[in-house]
Amino acid sequence: MNRVWLAALLASLCLPGWAAAGDARAGERIVSSRSQGLCLLCHPIPGQPDGLQGTLAPPLAGAGSRHSAQALRQRLLNPERFNPDTVMPSYGRSQGFNQVAPALRGKPLLTPHQIDDVVAYLVSLK
Ligand code: HEC
Repeated sequence: MNRVWLAALLASLCLPGWAAAGDARAGERIVSSRSQGLCLLCHPIPGQPDGLQGTLAPPLAGAGSRHSAQALRQRLLNPERFNPDTVMPSYGRSQGFNQVAPALRGKPLLTPHQIDDVVAYLVSLK
């Protein structure tokens, strides 16, 4: 087990308040990443190149003014709670997906730590 990972784990166990705060800049990288969050596939996102913005979902600009941190977290963990037919994937779920590559089976799309980072970024979008 690498030491940085262990330190992060210990910090998140001992300092839940600190760990839950998340890192907005790390969240921005996840949201704009084409291999991790893929939020751009569906959502227009402020500051991202024009031709790369999705048009399937509402713009994320102002998300932090419209929703509390808790509500934004719920959007990521349980999007079907808000719309049972949503096309938005549940980023915290690790079961119940179809046709998952063997290496990715049983893993959530984003770890709890990454979810904290994405929430911190969304909260900053006022
Ligand atoms: C496959 C398309 C898709 C992807 C990928 C996706 N979303 Fe969504 N998202 C939606 C749709 C569609 C909605 C509108 C509500 C609904 O139908 O669920 C939505 C709603 C939301 C909302 C609520 C917006 C509002 O203002 O009410 C937030 C916040 C959000 N998404 C964040 C994200 C983030 C962050 C990611 C990436 C980690 C992401 N979404 C990835 C399709 C997507």
